[in-house]
Formats: sequence, C-alpha cells, structure tokens
Amino acid sequence: MPRYSFPKPKGSEITPRDVYLNRRHFIAGAMATGVGVSMVGTARAASAATQPLTFKQGAAPVLSDKPTARELATTYNNYYEFGTSKGEPAHNASTLKIKPWTVEIGGEVAKPRTIGIEDLLAMELEERIYRMRCVEAWSMVIPWVGMSFSKLASLVEPTSKAKYVKFTSAARPEEMPGVRSRILDWPYTEGLRMDEAMHPLTFLTLGMYGETLPNQNGAPVRIVTPWKYGFKNAKSIVRIDFVSEQPRTAWMTAGANEYGFYANVNPEVDHPRWSQKHERLLPAFFASRETEKFNGYGAEVTSLYSGMDLAANF
Ligand code: MTE
Repeated sequence: MPRYSFPKPKGSEITPRDVYLNRRHFIAGAMATGVGVSMVGTARAASAATQPLTFKQGAAPVLSDKPTARELATTYNNYYEFGTSKGEPAHNASTLKIKPWTVEIGGEVAKPRTIGIEDLLAMELEERIYRMRCVEAWSMVIPWVGMSFSKLASLVEPTSKAKYVKFTSAARPEEMPGVRSRILDWPYTEGLRMDEAMHPLTFLTLGMYGETLPNQNGAPVRIVTPWKYGFKNAKSIVRIDFVSEQPRTAWMTAGANEYGFYANVNPEVDHPRWSQKHERLLPAFFASRETEKFNGYGAEVTSLYSGMDLAANF
C-alpha cells in the first residue's frame, strides 16, 4: 500500500483558502490600481528572494493558452518536502538554503563533475512556455527559464552504458519539515530513459517568469518534461546520475500500480482511482477540458514510444 497517494481531486478541495484569498486580493487590487500593476506587485511580494535572469526566447511549440498568473503558480504547489497541502510549500520553503548549491553529476559518464549553480546561470539561457499537467488533473501554463538538459549532459559525456538518467532532490530534515516524516521514501528521486532525457523539450530549469525559481517551485534547479505528469519534474536537484538500469523512483516506491516510470500524459490510460480524460486549467477550478495525449506535445515525442504498449508502460 502506498504510504501516501494523491487524493482524487474534487472541486471543493481544489481551491485552498490561501489561493481563494489571493484571488480575492488580486481582484480587489485590480479594481484599485489596474490589473497589470497589481499582478506585478503581488508576484514580487510573494518571493522577494528571486533574481532577474537574462535569456533569449527558446523554440517551443506555441500554445494558445496564456501563461498562468505567477501568483497562482507560486502558491499552488506540490512539494512534499514542505508539506502535502498546496499552500504549504509557499509558506514553508523559505527555510531551504539555496546558496551555496552544487549538483553532482556522475555514473556512466566520461567526465563526472560537480557544477555550481552560478556556472549553470552563466550559460546561455532561454525561455520556454510549457503547458504542465499534474496527475491530479489540473494544469497550468508556465514560462520556464533554463536550457535543454542535453546541454548539461554534453558537459559530462555519457558513455554507451548510460541508458537512463536518475535525478535526486535535496532531503534536509533541518530545512524541510516534510522530510522529518515518512510521507515518501526520501530523498525524492525521479528518472527518464536516455532518449527522453536527451529530447530537446526536456528542460533543465533555473527560473520562471523571467526570474530565478522561488524555493517552492524547486529552487535553484529542477527538471521539466512537459509531456509527462508533473511528478516526473524533480525539484531542488542535488545529484544527476547516468545509469544502466531503470531507476526506482520515489513515487514508484509509494505505489507502483498508480505511478509508473513513464508517466506520459495520456487520456486513454486512467489512473486506478480516477479518470485522466479531463483536466482543469487553473484558475478555472470548475470548468474542465479534454486532456491531450502527451499533453499536446505528441508531434514532438510520439516517436519515442513507437511499438510500446503505453497502457502497460504507464
Ligand atoms: N519534487 C520534489 N522534490 N518533491 C515533490 O513533492 N512534486 C512533484 C514535482 N516535483 C515534487 C517534486 C509534483 S507531484 C508536481 S505536480 C510538480 O513538482 C509541481 O511543480 P510546481 O509546484 O512547480 O507546479
């Protein structure tokens, strides 16, 4: 039995009080000062520690939906190291010390190395606006800043033995209250098959909305794979290993029948406890829309899975 699993989302549960209050605050502010000014003001207040980034526009499929308000994307989070409710990461994650921060990269590579966040930030960065779909059937549209993961991989030169990539998040009980209880098998780990990791859409993410990541969104570095459910996108990464065997992930350990290794967004394959056919593009908590296969990135990624049974390999 899983120690913890995502609840079936209900409309009544999906609007936590803090998000609701923020929306009211936003509406009040918008009436007083004009929408644009109010949005920038509240966004800055939510995460004073973030720094502006320099980047160019990256090549990503153009979306018809506008980016989600920054305020919502930074206050409605899943980050169990800081609590299991959506508002807790924004409240609790300021205790995470992100300076200094290094990422150890090793395993089946010719040039293992430890890289500091400053070195990653000094590389050429781009913005990619991605549609994101959580396994809990809500979605957002987020302007991420970072670089293709393949760029980082080229620095360490994976060998032919590298078949998968394993990502390990920080697990620091003294800074992360959730890690003091056994909600998941800490540290949070995730993984990708080598061809998925090297796909140009797979994004090593250092920022969002033009600034460095707020802690609750996975500062200082996380992974983003937009055609997969959000739980694949490990936050606050401290280790990256190129490995020969498929790694066991934290969510597979919690419940392998519910959270598979591939986790491709797929309306044809239901989660054992709820349908994946529809989703709510937040903040539209009640209006649901149809979920697209591979989260709308089918033209880019379908070929990765040719010949695979996606119901068996969920
Ligand atoms: N990474 C870590 N380390 N811990 C987590 O609890 N939650 C995952 C993923 N990465 C999680 C994590 C889940 S379930 C989702 S949906 C996304 O982060 C949420 O990312 P966001 O809060 O930036 O939207």
